[in-house]
Amino acid sequence: MYNFVFQNPTKLIMGKGMISRLSQEIPAEKRIMITFGGGSVKKNGVYDQVKNALKDHYCVEFWGIEPNPSIETLRKAIALGKEEKIDFLLAVGGGSVIDGTKLISAGLLYAGDAWDLVVSDKRAANTIPLGTVLTLPATGSEMNGGAVISRYETKEKYAFSSNNPVFSILDPETTFTLPAHQIAAGIADTFVHVIEQYMTVTGVSRLMDRWSEGILQTLVEIAPKIRQNQHDYNLMADFMLSATMGLNGFVALGVPQDWATHMIGHELTALHGLTHGHTLAIVLSGTLRVLKASKGDKILQYGARVWDITEGSRDEKIEETINKTEEFFRSLGLTTRLSEEGIGDETINEIERRFNERGVAFGENGDVTGKVAKEILLTRK
Ligand code: NZQ
Ligand code: ZN
Repeated sequence: MYNFVFQNPTKLIMGKGMISRLSQEIPAEKRIMITFGGGSVKKNGVYDQVKNALKDHYCVEFWGIEPNPSIETLRKAIALGKEEKIDFLLAVGGGSVIDGTKLISAGLLYAGDAWDLVVSDKRAANTIPLGTVLTLPATGSEMNGGAVISRYETKEKYAFSSNNPVFSILDPETTFTLPAHQIAAGIADTFVHVIEQYMTVTGVSRLMDRWSEGILQTLVEIAPKIRQNQHDYNLMADFMLSATMGLNGFVALGVPQDWATHMIGHELTALHGLTHGHTLAIVLSGTLRVLKASKGDKILQYGARVWDITEGSRDEKIEETINKTEEFFRSLGLTTRLSEEGIGDETINEIERRFNERGVAFGENGDVTGKVAKEILLTRK
């Protein structure tokens, strides 16, 4: 196990009816800006619960943070927040609203253009405290310090480091209204978060391996049940907590991490608007296949422990495990091939060009260059 320092300051508040605790969590004197997406919270009662809980607080609302939140929209929120002298932010929605609000939180204390914060490789130094009410399990943004922001005019999308929410409220009932595609993408995203922190080498930490495998097994067990009934409270609670635990740092203690699949996936979203989790379902099998020389032992461990694949030669077991993983994504209702989304060579070449131009290389060994990203995508046609 590698050395590490770990601290996760987010207070997790989970369960039915817990949105009413907002009034206790945010000091009475705060000037709050509540941020929302496109309006799903008005249809499922979440908006009313939030407003009711904060009826004695000063609140300004900002609407319209879109899926894959854009700097263009967030600049408007930052301008409003500065004008209103906001000193507390409450994000109500999915990962996009939360991520966007993380940028607002840093942007309110920054004199320049907030895009500088996204492209800087330093963690945002000054931030306004932020709380969240999560309505879509997927990103883990409710309990981590990351955010991913898009710039629509140039079709760019980058991750940046910001602040953890001070608290996050997770009521599984808020997920009952999620569209099937968002549930599928959310399960795929959670699955691949865990894989990116697990699928490297064997023998670094038994504990991290078992925790990761536990989340993966939970997702494999609940996914078909959720497809049958997304109003089952305990199923959705397990989904919600799996997503949070998948990317709040707990399964990454002292182990190497990959993230190449995510970085390639972000380009597919930036260029084609595909839902984040869906891009990962398309890319992951390619990453595993192209990097099987370095990841082979771990693929075998994952195949045996998560999919019960123990028969055949080493190569056969690896191949069967990768196929099982792709079948799992398809069973969620997602496509897993670029051609199924009308994406061809032009995009593959553009992603190679972008990685080369930026001089980046991803993966635990830093070997996923533009050339390797292209190889990965060519297997996904
Ligand atoms: O905008 P509204 O009307 O609220 O509708 C949203 C949106 O259209 C809808 N939705 C959310 N909760 C709902 C609901 N509809 C009905 N009922 C509910 N309860 O779902 C749509 C998608 O929402 P979005 O927030 O975009 O989804 P998600 O949570 O998957 O977030 C995706 C973004 O997070 C980034 C992704 O790159 C992407 O930009 N990620 C953030 C990470 C992080 N901060 O750590 C890590 C991830 O790897 C990921 O990159
Ligand atoms: Zn993700």
